Amino acid sequence: PIETDPNDGLALLEGRGQPIAAQYGIPLAVLIELTHKCPLQCPYCSNPVEMERARNELTTEEWKRVLDELAEIGVLQVHFSGGEPTARKDIVELVQHATDRDLYTNLITSAVLIGREKLAELADAGLSHIQISFQGSDAVKADRVAGFRNAHAKKHEVARWARELDLPLTVNAVMHRQNLDQLEDIIAMAVDMDADRIEVANVQYYGWALKNRAALMPTIAQIDRATEVVEDARERLKGILDIDFVIPDYYAERPKKCMGGWGRQFFNITPSGKVLPCHAAETITELEFLSVRSNHSIAWIWQNSDAFNRYRGTGWMPEPCQSCAFKEVDFGGCRCQAFALTGKAENTDPACALSPHHSEIFKTAETEAETGATRFIYRNFAGGTLEAEPVDGK
Ligand code: SF4
Ligand code: FES
Repeated sequence: PIETDPNDGLALLEGRGQPIAAQYGIPLAVLIELTHKCPLQCPYCSNPVEMERARNELTTEEWKRVLDELAEIGVLQVHFSGGEPTARKDIVELVQHATDRDLYTNLITSAVLIGREKLAELADAGLSHIQISFQGSDAVKADRVAGFRNAHAKKHEVARWARELDLPLTVNAVMHRQNLDQLEDIIAMAVDMDADRIEVANVQYYGWALKNRAALMPTIAQIDRATEVVEDARERLKGILDIDFVIPDYYAERPKKCMGGWGRQFFNITPSGKVLPCHAAETITELEFLSVRSNHSIAWIWQNSDAFNRYRGTGWMPEPCQSCAFKEVDFGGCRCQAFALTGKAENTDPACALSPHHSEIFKTAETEAETGATRFIYRNFAGGTLEAEPVDGK
């Protein structure tokens, strides 16, 4: 049930004495991960290394209750994600339910499980937008990254159907050393598909991607070239294609304001119903996350739970962040990256040049990028084990 008095028992912001609710309203958009099941095996998957088993997933009725609650507390947009959200048999029913609650719905999908009929059903159920991931512009290389035969061709087909059904389309292109040289072609591909937007998303290195960092880390020359390609394309494609692009962390001087700041603008819900401040938050093994199956409402978890309050605001920050002029600009960067690379989530994100770990990590990245390693450890849901051989035997 939703709390009748949202101010009841609110935790206090360290050093400021203000209730959290006064500062952090419920986010307008929420990511819900219906399942960790996925036919693809991308080596940079953002799901936790310990994936949630299907038997722990929320039921259809539980997800409907979650959608009701989200709508009731003021959420406007729901992003259905995974794993692969269409691996759930109830995906159309859930989209319909969200539509009935006046929620804007986005499907974040690999597209390989979607037939023409299913897509039409989703459109009829009110799906507002579709985001399809692509692993490159060239079928052989893209299928090798995905660890799935004919994935690339299938994605093209679904993108075409989406536009025939008038669904706005975003192309999500995850970039790394083994496909960055295709960036121009990937942008051209998005234009040909009549996409509105492309997210040129550089791999983030925690979870699976950290295991594969040596095979994925781009070189500085590649990043410089990619920046030129994006700048040129943005100029050329004004009004045709929006292009999102952020320099990868390891090559930035200042960290990104990850998640817009911990517990400030974002939460997501895992397949088993845990409410997280970030999709990778479970990689921070010392945190405990409350579930929608607990006695607490989602609003209560957002406002009061330890996991959300731990890195909210600036009171928790150690030096150099604590006395830094940028502390309310980037909120000390990414907690998951700080934990993955330094073992402490409260440390300054090593992407920051002021972090004592920055130069060492930057050097490692440079060295790894030069190795030319190509082998992937694939994310493999079925057996929960790792597969070392790339599909083309390279
Ligand atoms: Fe941001 Fe902390 Fe680096 Fe300052 S020291 S720029 S607050 S990460
Ligand atoms: Fe979790 Fe940055 S990815 S805080």
